[in-house]
Amino acid sequence: MTRGRFVAFEGGEGAGKSTQARLLVDALRARGLSVDLTREPGGTPGAEAIRALLLDPPGEGWGAEAEALLFAAARADHVARRIRPALERGEWVITDRFVDSSRAYQGGAGALGDEAITALHAIGSGGLRPDLTILLEAADEQVSERLRARDGDTSDAIGGRDAAYHRAVAEAFRRYAAEDPQGFAVIDASGTPDEVHARVLAALAPLLERA
Ligand code: TMP
Repeated sequence: MTRGRFVAFEGGEGAGKSTQARLLVDALRARGLSVDLTREPGGTPGAEAIRALLLDPPGEGWGAEAEALLFAAARADHVARRIRPALERGEWVITDRFVDSSRAYQGGAGALGDEAITALHAIGSGGLRPDLTILLEAADEQVSERLRARDGDTSDAIGGRDAAYHRAVAEAFRRYAAEDPQGFAVIDASGTPDEVHARVLAALAPLLERA
């Protein structure tokens, strides 16, 4: 049995990652592939418990180091208990966010820097990388509109950070994608969900041909 394929959707808030992940899973299943759809932080009972701690922190909230360690801990459990076993069974795994979110949010926009996040990932998850990371890039106005529709006035501890933080997140994602053109596909997230889905499928064509 060949190892399955691992695809991560990444991007800032409201870029349409969850919608695109679902559309991709439907398309892959329609081709007869066995697919596991998951998300981060989360994807296992332990990692979902850590998600609740991260997005609705008790007390005065987490410091930058504790936050990065919690994301890495959630990911270690997710990789060990769900992602690696599914890949070893030959399934496709589609995740809504993975380590590049930690690199962009905690590493690039936060205080920690990319080396520290990459080191934590090596310790926690053996440095596992997706076969392809799909970075969805949306214009600011489109994002604000989608977020208003999705969240109303509520947003979590990280989504609710200021505009400068989210601009730094977007810049970091762009930088990582430019540094690794083989590993990333940068996709314009403007237009209808079906239009964006067609771009995602085109970016995945090389992986699908080898499946
Ligand atoms: P979600 O809104 O995509 O479910 O993600 C929850 C929040 O967690 C979102 O604001 C992005 C943030 N996040 C990080 O800061 N670092 C990470 O490693 C991950 C996976 C998410």
